Amino acid sequence: MSTPARSKNAGPAQGEPLGLTIDNVRKVYASRGRETFEAVKGMNMDIRPGELISLLGPSGCGKTTTLRMIAGLETVTSGDIRIGDTRINDLPPGKRNVGVGFESYALYPPLNIKENLAYGLKARKEPNADEQAEAIAKRLDMEDLLPMRPASLSSGQKQRVALARALIRKPPVLLLDEPLGHLDASARQRVRRELKLLQREFGYTTIVVTHDQLEAMSLSDRIAVMNGGIIQQFDTPDEIFDNPANLFVADFVGEPSINLFDGEAVVRDGKVFAKVGEGMVETTVESATNGQKVTVGIRPSDCRTGVESGLVSDVVVFEDLLEFGQASVEVRGTAKRALVQTPAEEKYEPGDTVVFAAPPARVYLFNAESGDRVR
Ligand SMILES: Nc1ncnc2c1ncn2[C@@H]1O[C@H](COP(=O)(O)OP(=O)(O)O)[C@@H](O)[C@H]1O
Ligand SMILES: [Mg+2]
Repeated sequence: MSTPARSKNAGPAQGEPLGLTIDNVRKVYASRGRETFEAVKGMNMDIRPGELISLLGPSGCGKTTTLRMIAGLETVTSGDIRIGDTRINDLPPGKRNVGVGFESYALYPPLNIKENLAYGLKARKEPNADEQAEAIAKRLDMEDLLPMRPASLSSGQKQRVALARALIRKPPVLLLDEPLGHLDASARQRVRRELKLLQREFGYTTIVVTHDQLEAMSLSDRIAVMNGGIIQQFDTPDEIFDNPANLFVADFVGEPSINLFDGEAVVRDGKVFAKVGEGMVETTVESATNGQKVTVGIRPSDCRTGVESGLVSDVVVFEDLLEFGQASVEVRGTAKRALVQTPAEEKYEPGDTVVFAAPPARVYLFNAESGDRVR
C-alpha cells in the first residue's frame, strides 16, 4: 500500500496498527439553559496495536460519546487520548487517521455503492480501487449492492456499506458504533464472523460499540463493560464471565442472566458459606465476615442438582431443551425465582423439590450495598 505524504501536522501514519490510550478522559455536556451532564467520568483504557475491544453497556452509558471523542466529533472535557505516541485531543477529525463506521456517515448520493467504496482509495491514488471495492463487497456478502445508489438502500444495507467503507480504508484505528444492529439474525452472524476475520487480516486496532453481550463476547479480545459513564471492568470475555468485578457486570453479562439472592455469609472452620433462604452453599471466598449481608450470584449453567446440601427449591416450570433442561424454581425462604440448568436425563414436574448448589468457585458474593465483589 502506498503511504501518503505527511504534512508537518499530520496525524498518525496510515496503515500501521497503532495502540490507543485513553487517559482519565471525561466528557461533560453543557448546553445553554440546561444543567451540565457528565456522560463519561474519568475513563482509562490502554488498547494494544491490532486489538479488538468492545464497549459494552446499556443505552445511555456513554459508549457513543467515547467513540465520538476518539473520532474528534466531540470535544474532550479533560484527559488525554493518544494514538501511538500522538496526543490527538486537538487534531481535527480528518488528521486523526481514525476510520469511523458511524451509521450516519454520509455517502455521496450521486455515486453508486461501488463508487462510494472506491472513492476514498482513488483520492489517495491507491491502485486497484475498484477491485478492492469489489473484494470487500464480496467478503461482506453485499456484491448485489454495488450498482445501487445510497438513497435506495434499506437501513441494514446502509449499515453494511458503512462498515465496508470503514474497513476498506484500512485505518490504523477503526471505530464502529453498533455496526450490526440493523442486520437480521443470520446476516448478523455472517457479517460478524467476516468482520473479525478482516480485522485479524488487516490488524486494525478496533473499538466496537455494542449493547449486545453475545456480539461483544464473540468478537472481542477484551471488553470494557460500562455503566453510568464508568468502566466497570476491562478484561477478556472469559474473565468478564468467570470473574465479574461487581454485581453490575455479573448481571449484565450472561444469557440467561445470573440468579441473584439476598443472603448472608456464614464462616465455619475458616470456610465461607453463603446462606440463602433455608439453604447454604460453599464458596471459595476468603474475605467475608460471619453474618455479612451479601448478594449471592449463581449462574444457571453452574447449577448442580443431586447434591447433598444446597439451596432447597420447588419447581414452578420445567422446560426440556433436549441437550439440557431448565427448571424455573422458587427458592425456599426467599421471595425469589431462580433458573436452574439440569442434566438432559433429569425430568421434573411442577411441585418437585430440587436441591441445587454450584462448584464453590462459581458462587459469587457481592457487597450488599456497593455491589463490589467480595473475594
Ligand atoms: N449532545 C449532548 N448533550 C447533552 N447530553 C448528551 C448529548 N449526547 C449524549 N448525551 C447524554 O449522554 C449520555 C450518554 O450518551 P451516549 O454516549 O450516546 O450513550 P450510549 O451510546 O452508551 O447509548 C446519555 O445520557 C445522553 O442523553
Ligand atoms: Mg450509542
